[in-house]
Amino acid sequence: MWLFNSSVGKKVVMSITGLGLVLFLTFHMTMNCVALFSAEGYRFICEFLGANWYAIVGTIGLALLMVIHIAYATWLTLSNKKARGNERYAVTARPKGVEFASRNMFVLGLIVFLGLVLHLCNFWAKMQLVELRGGIPEDGVDLIRYTFSKWYFVLLYLIWFGAIWFHLTHGFWSAIQTIGMSNRKWFVRWKWIGYIFVTLLMLGFVGVVVTFFCYETFHWPFLASIFGGLA
Ligand code: HEM
Repeated sequence: MWLFNSSVGKKVVMSITGLGLVLFLTFHMTMNCVALFSAEGYRFICEFLGANWYAIVGTIGLALLMVIHIAYATWLTLSNKKARGNERYAVTARPKGVEFASRNMFVLGLIVFLGLVLHLCNFWAKMQLVELRGGIPEDGVDLIRYTFSKWYFVLLYLIWFGAIWFHLTHGFWSAIQTIGMSNRKWFVRWKWIGYIFVTLLMLGFVGVVVTFFCYETFHWPFLASIFGGLA
């Protein structure tokens, strides 16, 4: 089947799974921003997404998307290297006009993955996983407060967000091109749409981390008067 055999087929699978993951991230960012405005609202969402059947189905679906995306990325990277053969050093020697993210998609993906492992240990393992094993999950708001009161977690998360930004800005228009929605005119437009969308998406995550860090570290009262969820 062409989805398995051809490099275009593999790219189509990567594009569709990648866009699915972006959809999840959009929901996840929106959900996290609720923590800024209402602790009760955030607790309600966490409870809703606990060990209920629909949340478990969602988690399994998400894990499948990730496994397929990563497996195909590895497969595509290895087969590209093999296809280039002896030429590979000449080709990878910084070709003109090829951007940083495009040349480093696999390495960026690896950083994104390592960050995700840390993140799942920080949150998911103490919440949904505990509940699945019959225990009482930790409170989502408390976990956010604790995690982002530590400067080293804040630093690691900001580096992680930077890698995700590079990975997604390239991945977005590349996916749109692969599934054939981009012609000459729309090529530049999709690139801009991707940059703006991904930047707003990541600013949402950065906003939560930095706001909680500033409030937990400096206790600025004006922050609590803007963001009711902090108080
Ligand atoms: C401000 C930053 C973030 C916060 C506060 C946050 C918070 C959380 C929380 C509280 C959970 C546990 C939910 C539960 O088990 O009920 C969670 C799970 C998760 N987060 Fe995040 N997150 C953030 C950023 C991210 C980013 C950038 C990614 C992906 C690149 C991500 C991917 C995930 C995944 C895959 C899960 C598991 C979802 C599931 O169980 O279905 N998170 N996050």
